[in-house]
Amino acid sequence: MTTPKETLWELDPHTKAKHEILRRYLAAWFPILGTYNSRIVYIDGFSGPGRYKNGEPGSPTIALDVAVNHRKSTTGEIVFWFIEERDDRLAHLKQELAAVRVPAHFKVTAESGRFHEKFGKVLGSIEADKNALAPTFAFIDPFGFSGIPFSLIERLLSHKRCEAFITFMVDAINRFLEHPEDKVVQHIVEAFGGDEAVKIAKGPGDRIVKLRELYQSKLSSVAKYVRFFEMRDRQDRTQYYMFFATNSELGHLKMKEAMWKVDPDGDFRFSDATNPGQLVLFEADPTKVLASQVRDQFRAKGTITGFQVRTFVENRTAYLKKHMTGALKQEEESRSLKVEAIKTDGKRRRANTFPDEARLTWA
Ligand SMILES: C[S@@+](CC[C@H](N)C(=O)[O-])C[C@H]1O[C@@H](n2cnc3c(N)ncnc32)[C@H](O)[C@@H]1O
Repeated sequence: MTTPKETLWELDPHTKAKHEILRRYLAAWFPILGTYNSRIVYIDGFSGPGRYKNGEPGSPTIALDVAVNHRKSTTGEIVFWFIEERDDRLAHLKQELAAVRVPAHFKVTAESGRFHEKFGKVLGSIEADKNALAPTFAFIDPFGFSGIPFSLIERLLSHKRCEAFITFMVDAINRFLEHPEDKVVQHIVEAFGGDEAVKIAKGPGDRIVKLRELYQSKLSSVAKYVRFFEMRDRQDRTQYYMFFATNSELGHLKMKEAMWKVDPDGDFRFSDATNPGQLVLFEADPTKVLASQVRDQFRAKGTITGFQVRTFVENRTAYLKKHMTGALKQEEESRSLKVEAIKTDGKRRRANTFPDEARLTWA
């Protein structure tokens, strides 16, 4: 992918799919966090001009649109902070923003500058005053890999209810890993928060996989839930990767729900590769695969509860509760799984349901 030079550029189909996920996730995030917090912050650190060449909305316009549509369920202040390095794009963004009517509790700022410098400064002063950052969703969407220091993402994630959605250009990183200019390699070192990535260049194995795994493990060291999505085209070629890192169980769930809703007939699709041994395509019926995954996880554990299975499925896999129900139904029908008639709360279990209180034993 070549980096566009014009102020506005053409929207790629895969960016459209990424926007669909962002839109769906924010439709959950704004109401959930906007109801109980006096202030929430949406940062678009690489905001772009707010629109594409043929009139499609850019990420800032999408975020504002979603928030305006959910304005009644958000009572506290919503701060939108857009950062864009190029003045021509920023000027265009400002025009776009001026055309949107926003309610009084929205505070919209579009600034010229570099994400890591601007956000680093604000975070620095919040930390110096020993204050907490308000619940923040940071969309970090660069063309390449410079200006996304891991140390900054780590600091962001150390604040409660703060999360990051990051476009991770692992192919570009791979191509520049042995660049002769120190400055270029330094951006990579910063993005990973250490020189392990550079060492990968000299080691054995698939570099793309290793770089991806390294980033995943770095994020996992600072966030409880890390999901990693591959953007693939119809020919199944990987385009790029999106990482979502959060400490919120509910946020993690909502992001997975957004993924499962992406139009499976669209030109591009996401797949989940968080578990390296298991590539999850969002369009396939996962019943069989999930049934065997759950069986492997719990077969040797004796009698367990529906709660244990649900939390495993929701927190440790790409799947949702509805997929779990289908998988457990299949297991019960094939007599691999026995579900007791009386639940842990002393009540009778309804057929074909697997509530948290159900008692389950694999044969
Ligand atoms: C991939 S585009 C963003 C697209 C936008 N997020 C969207 O989805 O519509 C990256 C943008 O970041 C800008 N940019 C590049 N380096 C930057 C930096 N260090 N800080 C902020 N903006 C930067 C580029 O000029 C470009 O407009």
